[in-house]
Amino acid sequence: MTPSAGHALGYDAAPALSAPLRFFVTAPLFGVVAGLMLLVHPELLESRWTPGALALTHLVTVGFMLMVMVGALFQILPVVAGAVLPATRVLATIVHGLLGSGAIALVWGLAAMQPVALTAAVWLLGSGFATFVAAAAYALVRAPVPQATPRDLRLALIALTIAILLGLTLAMILTGELALPLFPLLKLHVGWAWLGGVGTLLAATSWVVVPMFQITPPYPQVLTRFWAMSAVGLLVLWSAAVLGGFPLLESALAVALALVAGVFIVTTLHLQRRSRRSTPDTTFRAFQLGMGSLIGGILCVLAAHHLDHAAWAVLAGVLILHGGFVSIMLGMLYKIVPFLAWLHLTQDKIKAPNMKKLQPDQPVRRQFHTHVGAFVLLIAAALAATNGLTMFGRLAGLIVMVEFGWLAWNILKVLRAYQRARST
Ligand code: HEM
Repeated sequence: MTPSAGHALGYDAAPALSAPLRFFVTAPLFGVVAGLMLLVHPELLESRWTPGALALTHLVTVGFMLMVMVGALFQILPVVAGAVLPATRVLATIVHGLLGSGAIALVWGLAAMQPVALTAAVWLLGSGFATFVAAAAYALVRAPVPQATPRDLRLALIALTIAILLGLTLAMILTGELALPLFPLLKLHVGWAWLGGVGTLLAATSWVVVPMFQITPPYPQVLTRFWAMSAVGLLVLWSAAVLGGFPLLESALAVALALVAGVFIVTTLHLQRRSRRSTPDTTFRAFQLGMGSLIGGILCVLAAHHLDHAAWAVLAGVLILHGGFVSIMLGMLYKIVPFLAWLHLTQDKIKAPNMKKLQPDQPVRRQFHTHVGAFVLLIAAALAATNGLTMFGRLAGLIVMVEFGWLAWNILKVLRAYQRARST
């Protein structure tokens, strides 16, 4: 697996397999709980504002997405950015424990509007993420900044930290510990989380993994040089307009942010069309679905700004979170996990089964088809729920449980193949 032009990867600096893998194995379990919640409470898709809907959002955003992102950063920082995290095994154990228990407390606190649980979430998530960012900053200040990805990883970490700090602030407003205006901070939280944290991290890794895993031409230099800085720069201007109370400027900058996101998405789809891969694999398809769904989601966000039907905001959440980010992370996991197993076996001079043996195609493809099925049902459920129809919501909940359970199972099977190869 050769790195794309200009990106030297330091596999010797790769952390122990257990460091990223513990995050990848637990993340899908939060997805299973999200499906169960929807199966029992399909009415949650009627509006974005109910406590249950907020809890559901954070089962996906903190329970699944943040876990996968932090797990991936444990691998990407040393290997791609040359930033070796200190005491990786201990660090991974502490961060994983605090983020996992913090996510449970946050979901419980939001669902039951329970101040004690929300306060516990603030401490657990706050200390877990602060520990990780401190270790990452310590490693990054010692690492060179030779290319776009290491630089953009720094920007993504800063943006994610801002999003998390805003989330912690929102939780403290809900417990009554802070008396600040909720709605403007909520807007900033979502903007910095979606485009700043997740979007910039996705772009920074895509500069390397899309050409590498999907055999496409490299991203245009103008994009790898300026996209992340433009996105974060515009987010700062947009935040000033939101906090300063300039609605016209805020709307204009929101459109500019949507366009900047669109440029990355359309370029990725264009590069995929120029891939030299003979047959598209699941990761390829997952990226295509993810990128297409993000475009739909951005259009729904803009529609929700101007049209007052509750479905637009719920649809935006389904398209951006499940159809967009979850699809892309699924595609990444199916490349990263078998590759890491193969890498560690090879580095330990153990005869490694090839990737297809470590992770056969069929269960991966079928799991992805289940994910697509759940996505279609979630869209139908979001449209039907605002008209009081809950049948689709229940069905979507059931299929979401299956898809995330299957994802966890597929990851565990790679781990078992790895352990078998080690034991023989
Ligand atoms: C430390 C982690 C986090 C905490 C403590 C947190 C806290 C919160 C709180 C309290 C709200 C609700 C405010 C309200 O309307 O009453 C909220 C809304 C939201 N958060 Fe988070 N959040 C965190 C991380 C994230 C992440 C990582 C993402 C996305 C990647 C995210 C996405 C959202 C979204 C989309 C909403 C708006 C939901 C809606 O209004 O429909 N959050 N967050």
